[in-house]
Parts: sequence; structure tokens; C-alpha cells
Amino acid sequence: MLRELFLLFTCMAWVEFAIHFSPWIKNISQNVEIYTPTTFQYPVSLNTYNGEHTRLLQNLQRSSGKWDSTHPRHRLLTALHGYTCYKDKSLAEVDKWRNLYKNVPKRQRTLLESTIHYTRKINTIEHLLDTNAKLSRSMVDYGLSFYNISQSELDEFIKESESQQRSADRTSVSQGMKHFVRDWADEGHEERQQSFGCILNSLAQMPRTKERPLRVLLPGSGLGRLAHEVDKLGGFDVTMNEWSAYMNLAYRYVSSLSVPNSVQFHPYIDWWSHHATTDDLQRSITFPDEVIHPSSVLLVEGDFTTVFAEHTGLYDIIVTLFFIDTARNLITYLETIHRLLRPGGRWVNLGPLLYGTAPFVQLSLDEIVALSASMGFEFQETDPAIGNVTLSGLPVRGLEVAYGRNGRGLNKNAYQAQYWEAVKR
Ligand SMILES: C[S@@+](CC[C@H](N)C(=O)[O-])C[C@H]1O[C@@H](n2cnc3c(N)ncnc32)[C@H](O)[C@@H]1O
Repeated sequence: MLRELFLLFTCMAWVEFAIHFSPWIKNISQNVEIYTPTTFQYPVSLNTYNGEHTRLLQNLQRSSGKWDSTHPRHRLLTALHGYTCYKDKSLAEVDKWRNLYKNVPKRQRTLLESTIHYTRKINTIEHLLDTNAKLSRSMVDYGLSFYNISQSELDEFIKESESQQRSADRTSVSQGMKHFVRDWADEGHEERQQSFGCILNSLAQMPRTKERPLRVLLPGSGLGRLAHEVDKLGGFDVTMNEWSAYMNLAYRYVSSLSVPNSVQFHPYIDWWSHHATTDDLQRSITFPDEVIHPSSVLLVEGDFTTVFAEHTGLYDIIVTLFFIDTARNLITYLETIHRLLRPGGRWVNLGPLLYGTAPFVQLSLDEIVALSASMGFEFQETDPAIGNVTLSGLPVRGLEVAYGRNGRGLNKNAYQAQYWEAVKR
């Protein structure tokens, strides 16, 4: 009896929920709505690659704003500091493991050495670090020339930072380098398929012409592979945006490579957990699996919520992949997406709701849908093949996707990422 009552109340709650949400749920039982571009006039034009580079260099001038840790040049120098110190930081970590090993009693160490050669394993890792350090040095060299910064300025910045106990951030460096695998190595192919498939399928169906390409913006684009895949579809004018200087240095570097699979490194040697074999741990990865034509996609560096101040109503499509949960203020993200889209423009989202440190609000999926709808987004029905509807009555679909997974690892973490498309009314 109690169970029946519970089910009855649950059903009533869901009916009420569906009625409540119905005004912004469109075409629930129909197929994907065909996207029709209107004869919309753009208020301003997009920057060119060279124009954006000039704007970027101007923005990086020390005189362009208050000189503190939020200044773009300060953030860039901090990232360059991080990549410069990759080797020292990593060697310090290996030293720590070597010292910890000394705690193992002599008898056990003898056993370890005669069976699995543990010291040799540590020494090999130390040796492989040289390859990674060579990569991080090349990234610094390319960054210095791309951003027009002298080695002496960087040296001075590092000296000053260290004197103020601001040490290099090894985690951001390691994350930046690991994204070479997710975005630009063969090994990331499966992971990319999982995430990009539904987005690219949807964009591919959108009517467009060479003469009148659709303008797409991808904020929080990381190392930019999705942006370049959208560009390859043809008929899109693609802008990507990324705030992190660690990511931007990595993207600028990968964009500079003209030979496929010309760079090699060992992405897994800094984390010894979840490896089936030591060969897996120590294996090398090559990239890029494809050469990038950097000028085909425009990277606008900076904070998504402020850097596009003059782009109101400029975009036909905004694609957020693993992005919205990075917001300090999620409402500002939603407002920015809404402002940058033209009326009738479409927001395509795929990602989890993994809130970071100190977000102002942490909303659940139903709250995000309700809030977006109240701002003027109309959620669209999407292809059922993408995945099951997460909340009955809402056209938001869930699909299991990995992020930064080691394909041979013994851990298989994945997200139930949420996919939706919403049109700005
Ligand atoms: C989880 S990562 C996803 C990267 C990429 N979309 C992917 O799927 O590989 C989120 C990215 O958003 C960037 N990001 C965070 N806040 C941002 C902001 N306000 N403006 C632009 N990018 C931002 C981060 O630096 C990070 O690279």
C-alpha cells in the first residue's frame, strides 16, 4: 500500500513537472528540427587571424591594464614559468619516490630488485622525463616567439616569482600536455568519437553555403580539436576561445607543427596508478595525428564572459563541450551565450556538471534547463540515438563519455554527459 502511494505521488510530481516545463519544450515527439538560417544582418564582422594576433599582442602589453596576477601577460608568464620548470618539478617528484622507497626494509628491497628491478624502473622514468622536458622547452621557445616575449623577461619573472614563493604549477602543465592525447593523438580517437559524434552530426545537418557560412563559437575550447573538426565540415566560420594560458601555449605549439606525428612524449609517467604493465606507464605517444591549419580557426584568448563584449548577436551557433560547469558564475555563462547568439541562433551543449572550486552557484540539470528557458532558450528535440532522455519530459539526453582517459589504464572513469540543443528566441 505504502509503495503504491509513493508511486502515485511520484507520478503526480512528474506530471506537474512536465506541465511546468512544457512551454519551452518544443517538438518533444518530433524529429530534430531543421535549422533554417534567416537573412540576419551581422552587427560587426569577425576578426581575421592576423587582426586577432595584433589585438592579442596589444592586450598583452604591460600598459594595457593593472599589473597584477590577473593581467594577461602575467598569466602567460606564469604558464611559461610552469612549462620552464617542468623538468625540475618532475625530478623533485621522482626523488620523492626514490626516498620513499628507502623506507622499504632491505630484505624486501632485495626481493624487489631481483624480481622487478624497481630502481631501474625509477631510473627509466627519470630518463624518460628528458623527452617530456624537451617538449615543454620547445613549447616555451615557441610561446616566447609567438607572443613576442624575450627570454630575459621570462627569466626575470621567474626570479621574482620564486623570490615571492610563487612556485611553478606542475599540475596545470601536466594537464596541458595530457590534452595533446585527448585532442591530437591517435590514442584520443575513441574518446573524441564519443564526445564529438553527436555535435558534429547535428552541425553537419545545418543548411549553410560557402558564401554564407554559419558562425560558430566554441568557448572553453581546450586544445581545439572539436573546433577544427567543425571547420572540416565546411560552411562554418569557426571561432574558439580559451582562457587558460597553459592550454593556449599548448594549442599555439601544436598549431606550429607541420609534420604529422613528429613529436613524442610520455604522458603517463607522472601518475603511477592504474597501469596493467610498466610498459603501459612508460609508453610514448606521438602527435599531432593531423596537421593543423591555424588560420582556418580563430582562437580568441581570454575570459569568455568579457572578451566578446562587442560580439552581441554575432553567432549562429555556440557549442559548449565540457564547459558550462567551469563557471564561477553559471548565470553569467548562460547570459553570455544568450547575448552572443543571434535571435534564432542555437546553443549545443555536451558535458557533465562537475563544479570546480568555489562556484557562486551549483545548479542541477533541471535548474539549468528552467533558468535557461526563463532567459529565452527553447529546448529542442534531439536524435534519440544520442542517448536516453535524462529527465522525463525534458529533451536533454545523457551519454557516457570519458575525459582524458588512459585507454590502457585499469580505471575507467566516465561521465554521464548531458546533451542538449536550445534555440534563442
Ligand atoms: C574541462 S575543459 C574542456 C576543454 C575542451 N572543451 C575539451 O572538451 O577538451 C574546460 C576548459 O574551459 C576553459 N575555461 C574555463 N573558464 C573559462 C572562461 N571563463 N573562458 C574561456 N575558457 C574557460 C578551461 O581553461 C578549460 O580549458
